[in-house]
Amino acid sequence: MDVTQLATSANGETAAIAPGVSDTSSSSDIRQLRINLNHWYAIAQSRELTQQPLAVTLWQQAIVLYRDAVGQVQALEDRCPHRQVKLSHAQVVEGKLECAYHGWRFDAAGTCVHVPYLADHQKLPTCKIRTYPVREQAGFIWVFPGEAQKQAACEPLPLPEWDHLNYIATVSIIEAEAHYSFLIENLMDMYHGHLHDSYQAWADPVLQGLEESDRTVSAHYEAQSYYKIDKIWSVSQLFFPALRQLHPEPLDVSYLYPHWRSTLGQDFVICCLFCPQGPTRTRAFLIHFTSLNAFHRLHKLPVWFRRWVRDSLFGSAQKLLDGLVEQDVLMVEEEQQAYLQNPDRRGPELNRTLTSVQRLISHQAKL
Ligand code: FES
Ligand SMILES: [Fe+2]
Repeated sequence: MDVTQLATSANGETAAIAPGVSDTSSSSDIRQLRINLNHWYAIAQSRELTQQPLAVTLWQQAIVLYRDAVGQVQALEDRCPHRQVKLSHAQVVEGKLECAYHGWRFDAAGTCVHVPYLADHQKLPTCKIRTYPVREQAGFIWVFPGEAQKQAACEPLPLPEWDHLNYIATVSIIEAEAHYSFLIENLMDMYHGHLHDSYQAWADPVLQGLEESDRTVSAHYEAQSYYKIDKIWSVSQLFFPALRQLHPEPLDVSYLYPHWRSTLGQDFVICCLFCPQGPTRTRAFLIHFTSLNAFHRLHKLPVWFRRWVRDSLFGSAQKLLDGLVEQDVLMVEEEQQAYLQNPDRRGPELNRTLTSVQRLISHQAKL
């Protein structure tokens, strides 16, 4: 018996679905699902926030970040309660946000504490704006936009490599006009190395294992890596494709909702911190760590020198990472456009990892 199925889309087109192939059309509106707000989201890099307030958006919520009198990051709704203008146009005065329009000042609790023209017989207005739990951790500013009672059960995604002397970091910012599901599917599907040409770090992936829980999906691929970072000169493989040679390495990718982490052998860790801004716009921070663990002689050198090496090489994979991001963003934005033009048109999916990813997105969106 031929067990091949035919999936029929709304416009009458059919696609053959072979045994073992998932038809993702059953999860019809995955592209419109909201995020689960009860997680920590990375909304800015620490270095982006200087003396001036910074406007950021997380799932259609306008948020203003600023540093108070002791340099601590505060996060408030980006809206002056007086005339609803943006507080991100404010300036920080004595550690408070001073609105650009009439100069009302707001403290970190979102309370109005000063009005410059308040008459003697007038009381301060009792208006108050929303505040967000915020943390500055591992080079990023994290916000928890969910329910207060659920905050204790969550932590920002650990990034132990960020402060470790043995890892060189590069950060690329992803700005995609697309639903976050397209981006996480791109990151979890290692079969798209075809796209990346000389930028790609891996080849010939074969999915070996897949695990999922109500918060995670982990896929284990056996692959070939182009890089081996075991001699000091081998770091130059990041810049010169001719120096790269394929060799087998495990490739592990995990959706640790709402973020992503992957490892390629011992040499690379790549994380993606998601900041979905709305149903068709996603910002994310892709962080590439190159490991210096293999350089045992380097580890015996003074800490100040190792820190200098690490800091001097910060961003050394920028061209590589930006190139990867540009190619991926083009694809996910085209997927989004195609979806908007015809939401019912779906192709068959050969990588069962993506079925698990969609299941996790659906589950989290319902929580
Ligand atoms: S609008 Fe902000 S003080 Fe008036
Ligand atoms: Fe990619």
